[in-house]
Amino acid sequence: MISTGTKDRIMHRSLLILSFLAFIIAGTAWAEEEEAGAQGGADWLQQKVETCAACHGEQGVSENPAFPTIAGQHESYLYHVLKAYRDGERENPVMATQVTGLSNAQMRALAKYYAQQESPLYTPILDR
Ligand code: HEC
Repeated sequence: MISTGTKDRIMHRSLLILSFLAFIIAGTAWAEEEEAGAQGGADWLQQKVETCAACHGEQGVSENPAFPTIAGQHESYLYHVLKAYRDGERENPVMATQVTGLSNAQMRALAKYYAQQESPLYTPILDR
Protein backbone atom coordinates (compact mmCIF):
# COMPACT_ATOMS: atom_id res chain seq x y z
CA MET A 1 0.00 0.00 0.00
CA ILE A 2 1.39 3.43 -0.95
CA SER A 3 0.66 6.17 1.57
CA THR A 4 -1.22 9.31 0.48
CA GLY A 5 1.86 11.39 1.16
CA THR A 6 3.97 9.30 -1.23
CA LYS A 7 1.25 9.41 -3.88
CA ASP A 8 1.17 13.19 -3.61
CA ARG A 9 4.90 13.36 -3.97
CA ILE A 10 4.84 11.12 -7.06
CA MET A 11 2.06 13.24 -8.61
CA HIS A 12 3.95 16.39 -7.84
CA ARG A 13 7.18 15.10 -9.41
CA SER A 14 5.37 13.84 -12.53
CA LEU A 15 3.75 17.23 -13.00
CA LEU A 16 7.09 18.93 -12.61
CA ILE A 17 8.70 16.64 -15.15
CA LEU A 18 5.77 17.09 -17.57
CA SER A 19 5.86 20.87 -17.41
CA PHE A 20 9.61 20.78 -17.85
CA LEU A 21 9.23 18.62 -20.99
CA ALA A 22 6.48 20.89 -22.36
CA PHE A 23 8.75 23.86 -21.78
CA ILE A 24 11.64 22.22 -23.68
CA ILE A 25 9.40 21.16 -26.61
CA ALA A 26 7.79 24.60 -26.89
CA GLY A 27 11.24 26.21 -26.75
CA THR A 28 12.59 24.01 -29.54
CA ALA A 29 9.60 24.68 -31.80
CA TRP A 30 9.95 28.39 -31.22
CA ALA A 31 13.71 28.31 -31.92
CA GLU A 32 13.12 26.43 -35.17
CA GLU A 33 10.53 28.97 -36.26
CA GLU A 34 12.89 31.80 -35.45
CA GLU A 35 15.64 30.12 -37.41
CA ALA A 36 13.39 29.57 -40.45
CA GLY A 37 12.33 33.21 -40.25
CA ALA A 38 15.90 34.50 -40.10
CA GLN A 39 16.67 32.41 -43.18
CA GLY A 40 13.76 33.94 -45.08
CA GLY A 41 11.95 30.61 -45.60
CA ALA A 42 8.79 30.22 -47.69
CA ASP A 43 6.31 30.77 -44.84
CA TRP A 44 8.11 33.82 -43.63
CA LEU A 45 8.31 35.23 -47.14
CA GLN A 46 4.59 34.72 -47.85
CA GLN A 47 3.69 36.64 -44.71
CA LYS A 48 6.22 39.37 -45.29
CA VAL A 49 5.23 40.15 -48.87
CA GLU A 50 1.68 40.76 -47.69
CA THR A 51 3.01 43.70 -45.71
CA CYS A 52 4.93 45.03 -48.69
CA ALA A 53 1.81 44.64 -50.86
CA ALA A 54 0.00 47.28 -48.79
CA CYS A 55 2.14 49.93 -50.47
CA HIS A 56 3.88 48.28 -53.41
CA GLY A 57 0.83 46.41 -54.67
CA GLU A 58 0.17 42.71 -55.19
CA GLN A 59 3.38 40.98 -56.30
CA GLY A 60 5.11 44.37 -56.23
CA VAL A 61 3.27 46.06 -59.08
CA SER A 62 2.26 49.39 -57.64
CA GLU A 63 -1.05 51.03 -58.45
CA ASN A 64 -0.17 54.20 -56.61
CA PRO A 65 2.42 56.65 -57.95
CA ALA A 66 3.60 57.36 -54.39
CA PHE A 67 5.07 53.85 -54.23
CA PRO A 68 7.55 52.43 -56.72
CA THR A 69 6.93 49.19 -58.59
CA ILE A 70 9.45 46.71 -57.26
CA ALA A 71 8.43 43.68 -59.33
CA GLY A 72 10.84 42.81 -62.11
CA GLN A 73 13.71 44.98 -60.94
CA HIS A 74 17.13 43.37 -60.86
CA GLU A 75 17.60 41.05 -57.91
CA SER A 76 20.96 42.51 -57.00
CA TYR A 77 19.55 46.05 -57.10
CA LEU A 78 16.64 45.10 -54.84
CA TYR A 79 18.95 43.36 -52.39
CA HIS A 80 21.35 46.27 -52.20
CA VAL A 81 18.67 48.90 -51.85
CA LEU A 82 16.97 46.97 -49.02
CA LYS A 83 20.31 46.76 -47.23
CA ALA A 84 20.87 50.46 -47.85
CA TYR A 85 17.55 51.31 -46.20
CA ARG A 86 18.32 49.05 -43.24
CA ASP A 87 21.83 50.39 -42.77
CA GLY A 88 20.83 54.03 -43.28
CA GLU A 89 22.79 54.55 -46.50
CA ARG A 90 19.56 55.36 -48.32
CA GLU A 91 17.45 57.47 -46.07
CA ASN A 92 13.73 56.96 -46.09
CA PRO A 93 11.85 56.71 -42.79
CA VAL A 94 9.01 54.63 -44.28
CA MET A 95 11.25 51.98 -45.83
CA ALA A 96 13.70 52.02 -42.92
CA THR A 97 10.90 50.82 -40.62
CA GLN A 98 9.99 48.09 -43.08
CA VAL A 99 13.44 46.54 -43.11
CA THR A 100 14.51 47.10 -39.50
CA GLY A 101 15.86 43.88 -38.03
CA LEU A 102 15.80 41.88 -41.27
CA SER A 103 18.72 39.52 -41.84
CA ASN A 104 20.69 39.56 -45.09
CA ALA A 105 19.15 36.18 -45.95
CA GLN A 106 15.65 37.59 -45.51
CA MET A 107 16.45 40.55 -47.78
CA ARG A 108 17.95 38.18 -50.32
CA ALA A 109 14.71 36.16 -50.27
CA LEU A 110 12.64 39.32 -50.76
CA ALA A 111 14.88 40.53 -53.59
CA LYS A 112 14.68 37.17 -55.34
CA TYR A 113 10.90 37.05 -54.97
CA TYR A 114 10.27 40.51 -56.42
CA ALA A 115 12.83 40.11 -59.20
CA GLN A 116 10.88 37.05 -60.38
CA GLN A 117 7.42 38.66 -60.42
CA GLU A 118 5.78 39.64 -63.68
CA SER A 119 6.19 43.34 -64.19
CA PRO A 120 5.40 46.20 -66.55
CA LEU A 121 9.01 47.38 -66.08
CA TYR A 122 11.64 46.80 -68.71
CA THR A 123 14.90 45.76 -67.11
CA PRO A 124 17.42 44.70 -69.75
CA ILE A 125 19.95 42.03 -68.90
CA LEU A 126 23.32 43.24 -70.09
CA ASP A 127 25.82 40.83 -71.61
CA ARG A 128 29.19 41.34 -70.08
C1 HEC B 1 4.07 52.01 -45.83
C2 HEC B 1 4.38 51.85 -47.25
C3 HEC B 1 5.49 50.87 -47.62
C4 HEC B 1 5.62 49.55 -47.24
C5 HEC B 1 4.71 48.73 -46.33
C6 HEC B 1 6.80 49.05 -47.92
N1 HEC B 1 7.36 50.03 -48.69
FE1 HEC B 1 8.96 49.83 -49.91
N2 HEC B 1 8.85 51.81 -50.38
C7 HEC B 1 7.90 52.70 -49.92
C8 HEC B 1 8.22 54.04 -50.41
C9 HEC B 1 7.44 55.31 -50.11
C10 HEC B 1 9.39 53.90 -51.19
C11 HEC B 1 10.17 55.02 -51.90
C12 HEC B 1 11.21 55.48 -50.89
C13 HEC B 1 12.34 56.30 -51.48
O1 HEC B 1 12.08 57.26 -52.19
O2 HEC B 1 13.50 55.92 -51.21
C14 HEC B 1 9.75 52.49 -51.17
C15 HEC B 1 10.85 51.96 -51.83
C16 HEC B 1 11.16 50.63 -51.89
C17 HEC B 1 12.22 50.05 -52.70
C18 HEC B 1 13.16 50.82 -53.62
C19 HEC B 1 12.57 50.82 -55.01
C20 HEC B 1 13.44 51.50 -56.01
O3 HEC B 1 13.05 51.51 -57.19
O4 HEC B 1 14.51 52.03 -55.67
C21 HEC B 1 12.20 48.72 -52.47
C22 HEC B 1 13.12 47.68 -53.09
C23 HEC B 1 11.15 48.44 -51.51
N3 HEC B 1 10.53 49.63 -51.19
C24 HEC B 1 10.85 47.19 -51.03
C25 HEC B 1 9.90 46.95 -50.06
C26 HEC B 1 9.69 45.66 -49.45
C27 HEC B 1 10.44 44.40 -49.82
C28 HEC B 1 8.70 45.82 -48.53
C29 HEC B 1 8.17 44.80 -47.57
C30 HEC B 1 9.14 44.22 -46.67
C31 HEC B 1 8.29 47.22 -48.56
N4 HEC B 1 9.04 47.86 -49.49
C32 HEC B 1 7.28 47.75 -47.79
C33 HEC B 1 6.81 52.38 -49.12
C34 HEC B 1 6.59 51.16 -48.53
